[in-house]
Amino acid sequence: MNVLIIGSGGREYSIGLALKKDKIVEKLYFAPGNGASDGLGENINISDFSKLADFVEENEIDLTIVGPEGPLVDGIVDLFQDRGLSIFGPTASAAQLEGSKIFMKNFLARHGVPTAKYVETDSLDSAYKFINELSTPIVVKADGLCGGKGVIIAESHDDAKRAAGEMLSGNSFGDAGTKIVVEEFLDGYELSVFAICDGKDFVVLPAAQDHKRLLNDDEGPNTGGMGAYAPTPLVNDEIYRKLEERVIKPTLKGMKDEGNPFTGVLFIGVMVVDGEPIILEYNVRFGDPECEELMPLLKSPASELFHKAAMGDLASANIKFHNKYAVGVVMASKDYPYKSSEPAEIIIDDIVHDDIEANSHISFAGVSRGDDGKLFATGGRVLVCVGIGDSITQAHERAYMLCGQVHFIGKQCRTDIAYQALELES
Ligand code: AMP
Ligand code: GLY
Repeated sequence: MNVLIIGSGGREYSIGLALKKDKIVEKLYFAPGNGASDGLGENINISDFSKLADFVEENEIDLTIVGPEGPLVDGIVDLFQDRGLSIFGPTASAAQLEGSKIFMKNFLARHGVPTAKYVETDSLDSAYKFINELSTPIVVKADGLCGGKGVIIAESHDDAKRAAGEMLSGNSFGDAGTKIVVEEFLDGYELSVFAICDGKDFVVLPAAQDHKRLLNDDEGPNTGGMGAYAPTPLVNDEIYRKLEERVIKPTLKGMKDEGNPFTGVLFIGVMVVDGEPIILEYNVRFGDPECEELMPLLKSPASELFHKAAMGDLASANIKFHNKYAVGVVMASKDYPYKSSEPAEIIIDDIVHDDIEANSHISFAGVSRGDDGKLFATGGRVLVCVGIGDSITQAHERAYMLCGQVHFIGKQCRTDIAYQALELES
């Protein structure tokens, strides 16, 4: 099988690594990929959807996997399907679950899926009215895609009103904020749960926990995610059962009934409040860095999971996971998440420790390759050091041993990834 992966991050690299292990996969392509993915497959520099479809036909590519939400919301799946090409991901109308928070919230309300109390509005008056009814903190969200920055958690009523006003006037997020959602704050612990869906059936992956703040102890600004681990002991069978019955099944049925059958990754942002899973948001793609920990836990061939989902045939798949844990620590460049940083050469020590060699690896993201073959950190989240183990403690140790072997000027990483789980394990 020949596979094309769309995207350039650590998420796409980790999907590539999983497919490389898979004997069925012959040729692997990335569009556009990054400075390290050319070590796994071939990078191609095409972004236009119809030219990508031409490339797929010319190179006999059997499956395309889409990493980020942008091309999904912009309709890459629709175009590929019209041309009879097999692609893993939702259509543009199904991708509205991520592309529009208002679509998502109204969908959840229509289908009785538990979510925070909210109003959606384009009027400052009704935003103010609802803000006055809520106790603080208060959550204000721009409707459209804002690269993960469109959510404000306001500590006072005045701050919430200011955030709503700035969004509605177009000052904060342009058109993405001219409609907003105001909602109650949920106080609990957050999980990332992923269901691979084929329109009707689904496979739930081990639940993960991300660390969105830049600094230890969940301080500092929000980022795309500074590290994650899976499976998390914060989830028990009862929570998985509630998620399947109250969230995933009604969502797949609702999407199908409304003429938008959902194929691809349903990323469920969950807040567990007093043992009850409440939905914060949906995304229509893998989380990054969660994907980097989930892919190595997959025991079944990755191609089977993605291909069967794309073909609407998950019912015939028997997807298995290793009985292990994975911890991933993001290394980011010096000025992340504020601005881009000067390229910095990445030096990776020879790994002489057999245990680390066998049980850890790097998923590369913001890197480029110089003419001399050297790798450079070129900004944002640069790479993820992933450790695998029989416990979270062991996986954590291995991930951080690997971190100690990777050097570039200005590197920053959190040193407390998986702290909630480690407290439970100790
Ligand atoms: P979202 O893009 O909707 O996932 O929001 C980004 C982050 O804001 C989430 O991962 C949560 O940490 C936080 N958040 C969003 N909505 C709420 C809420 N209603 N209550 C508490 N935290 C929230
Ligand atoms: N790690 C969270 C996200 O990908 O949105």
